[in-house]
Amino acid sequence: MSDPWRDLPALHAHLWARLARGVGDAGDPFRLTALATTGTGGAEARMVALRRTEAATATVEVHSDLRTAKIDALRHDPRGALLFWDARTQEQLRLSVLFEVLAAPADRWAAVPEAARANYGTDPAPGAGIGDPDRLTRTPDPARFAALPGRVLRMDAVSLAHDPHRRAVFEGPDLTGRWVAP
Ligand SMILES: Cc1cc2nc3c(=O)[nH]c(=O)nc-3n(C[C@H](O)[C@H](O)[C@H](O)COP(=O)(O)O)c2cc1C
Repeated sequence: MSDPWRDLPALHAHLWARLARGVGDAGDPFRLTALATTGTGGAEARMVALRRTEAATATVEVHSDLRTAKIDALRHDPRGALLFWDARTQEQLRLSVLFEVLAAPADRWAAVPEAARANYGTDPAPGAGIGDPDRLTRTPDPARFAALPGRVLRMDAVSLAHDPHRRAVFEGPDLTGRWVAP
């Protein structure tokens, strides 16, 4: 197989294919990503699952409970970042993303598997104090569900599999690429 890091167009296509694989394959390392936001108290990061990507529109999407802190943070400042790492291929990908908060989107909710819906209906709300960690009820509720689609503004990719390491940045309206020193 030819090296997807051989040139910038091949790398750009490879990165979007890697993201798509993360959406399609629950076992893929790019399925899980750290979402960083800026809250009122400063930087915050947490793991989330990648739910959708579209290379043509440079879109990525994650889902959450509407009552979580990340929603408040993104309403305060929609700029976020997603961080991916594949230990097998030794590739890191950082995305700078402008997120949108979609509250209770019916089309997305319809596609959420029954078993996963319980993630969007805990009582009390995520982050609320709870006397007993076992006293939690789950009532799947579309009104508590949020989709966070976002436009990718910048991609920063690093390969540790190359010697010397390779790093490329894609940014601007067309995500134009350039090589940078790692
Ligand atoms: C492997 C893993 C995957 C997770 N996936 C999601 C997810 O897709 N969406 C989500 O809202 N929280 C997910 N969580 C929980 C978040 O990391 C976090 O604990 C929760 O959303 C509250 O975050 P916040 O208070 O910063 O908003 C996941 C946690 C782990 C460990």
